[in-house]
Amino acid sequence: MAALASIRRRPDKIEIINQLLLPHTIEWLEIDTIEQAHDAIKTMKIRGAPAIASLASLEFAQDLSRALKESPPPSYLSSPEALQAHVTKTLDFLYTARPTAVNLGTATRRLKGVLQSSIGAGKAPKDIAEDLIEEGKKIDDEDLGRNKEMAKWGGEWLVKEVQKAGGSGEGLNVMTVCNTGSLATSGYGTALGLITYLHETGKLDRAYFTQTAPYHQGSRLTALELQTLKIPSTMIVDTMVGSLFQHHKIDAVAVGADRIARNGDTANKIGTYNAAVLAARHGIPLIVVAPVSTVDLDIPDGSHIPIEQRPAIEACVVRGALYPISDNLDANGNKQQAAVMITPEGLDGIYNPSFDVTPAELISAIVTEKGVAVKGADGKFDLSEITGTA
Ligand code: MRU
Repeated sequence: MAALASIRRRPDKIEIINQLLLPHTIEWLEIDTIEQAHDAIKTMKIRGAPAIASLASLEFAQDLSRALKESPPPSYLSSPEALQAHVTKTLDFLYTARPTAVNLGTATRRLKGVLQSSIGAGKAPKDIAEDLIEEGKKIDDEDLGRNKEMAKWGGEWLVKEVQKAGGSGEGLNVMTVCNTGSLATSGYGTALGLITYLHETGKLDRAYFTQTAPYHQGSRLTALELQTLKIPSTMIVDTMVGSLFQHHKIDAVAVGADRIARNGDTANKIGTYNAAVLAARHGIPLIVVAPVSTVDLDIPDGSHIPIEQRPAIEACVVRGALYPISDNLDANGNKQQAAVMITPEGLDGIYNPSFDVTPAELISAIVTEKGVAVKGADGKFDLSEITGTA
């Protein structure tokens, strides 16, 4: 079976797979407006740092394409100034959908850069819009290729590390957290891409992944992706990471990232920090795999990363397909899965951060499409080479 996809681009429409319904139901949702794209990201119908940046950029491009065909054209196409005001407002709105994943901010900043240079070049509103449409599509187009590059860099690095330590570099077992595969990106994935690369090159024995409570990206999404790709895998409950490391040969933990600070501190799905502490205790390398667009060189360390707090209810329920889901509609009439409360009603004091920050100290390598960074003799990362800013 072909790999799963998060976004389907048609000549005149964009569709996303509704990740809230996976793994039990495959439902494609058409995204027609900026508001729908914002809502889909905020409610996590689409999630994963690169995928949300792709959807925002594609819907932004689609919205402008449609505006160019309107007759009469919308007033914001009447002058570069009007277009600038409209584009800035739209991009700022899209960036508010989720705060931690910087890829969304990188994409909106990149589009604003094109806006500025096209205005600076004295172009007419229609041509500025065309430039923006092209750039929006390019942001999505670039993702698949760079994922394959980082997967290869990271996979080769790990094999060499294992060999340096006296191992054969084959029969590797790699654990991951959350979902970083084709559902979280525009294809192949980041950390799950590294695992896929090891599998494709015959170096992988087994992938291990955590359920990743409370949203269960592991048990719902990573499980489905690994099953689809026929990669041998074992799921563990989040509380079993220590036990896994004590009783099994785990060669590495590979995780994605939502934002990497200049010193290498990395925000990723909640539970990554727990895994990192345990990996360090057991001498297992922790590899962060992410595109350059996830690196935020503007912030010195992880204390500056905004951490998204998800609604408390998400930590109080498990979702499943126990009941006919067609009877279960949200306020907008969309299908929802049955949610089973696992807490007493009225519980207060619920802590539900979506991400945690793993200090650079616990990270062995940071991999992007440009290469692998490891800590220098001073124990610090220098990310300039792997971000192309050297
Ligand atoms: O809340 P999510 O599901 O969007 O969180 C996703 C993660 O934390 C991923 O590890 C990260 O975005 C990298 S995806 C390639």
